[in-house]
Amino acid sequence: MALPGLIRVMERAARKAGGRLRRDFGEIEHLQVSRKGPSDFVSKADRIAERTIYDELLHARPDWGFVMEEAGTIEGDPTKPRWVVDPLDGTSNFLHGIPHFAISIAAQEPKLDGSGWGEVTAGVVYQPITDETFWAEKSRGAWLHDGRLRVSSRSRLSEALIGTGIPYGGHGDFGEWGRIFAAIGPQVAGIRRYGAASLDLAWLAAGRFDGFWESDLADWDTAAGCLLVREAGGFVSDYRGRSQPIHAKQVLAANDSLHSRLHKLLAGALKA
Ligand code: IPD
Ligand code: CA
Ligand code: CA
Ligand code: CA
Repeated sequence: MALPGLIRVMERAARKAGGRLRRDFGEIEHLQVSRKGPSDFVSKADRIAERTIYDELLHARPDWGFVMEEAGTIEGDPTKPRWVVDPLDGTSNFLHGIPHFAISIAAQEPKLDGSGWGEVTAGVVYQPITDETFWAEKSRGAWLHDGRLRVSSRSRLSEALIGTGIPYGGHGDFGEWGRIFAAIGPQVAGIRRYGAASLDLAWLAAGRFDGFWESDLADWDTAAGCLLVREAGGFVSDYRGRSQPIHAKQVLAANDSLHSRLHKLLAGALKA
């Protein structure tokens, strides 16, 4: 299947920035690493990737705005969509020479009544090291290159491999995460923490993971990934089980039957 026009624009930007990330990978002494918080690092690689994506997307859609992890919000025409960009998801992996990181780009529509931002209608998660492009467009499905993605059909917790994100440094609630882990861990086949939320969600869409939970995420971590999961037939909610707008601070995602089983465990853990 030929890539839709908007996805082609997003993929071109992601590939250009990804090529640069591949070249910078392993060159930590040149990357001017600094801290945004106790364990929240940013480097020249994040900034160059973001600038590359910005330049490409601005050229393609001059009147669209941006919300980006490093540069923040850049207003565009409020009647047009905006780009939601994480230029390097998995910075800690990148800076430790671990080849698991991604670029996440999503397009988000303004609400019809002008009261802010609504649906995410297109998303790309690009993994520069494996050269995989996961993409989704609303109502057109989720794809890995030209192969259609479906979430896994496993329904037994005992066979399920679950992804998560663990709080770190001054970020997130270790107590809450620990209670959820203690409830879910003994019931499932395994739990993984790989360190790039956009890829966790893309892998869930691809059926590599059977479920995923994490809190304290930002829109740029989840916008593209949640669309991928939904378009692959999965269910995305907050920890109360309510279907979330496509980007969410708390994410619990899985196929329908595993979602309800995981939600029961998670809700029980948070009540206890
Ligand atoms: C982080 C990664 C990580 C998640 C963190 C995010 P960054 O993004 O997605 O998996 O656990 O919450 O902040 O800072 O590497 O772009
Ligand atoms: Ca970061
Ligand atoms: Ca991120
Ligand atoms: Ca980032």
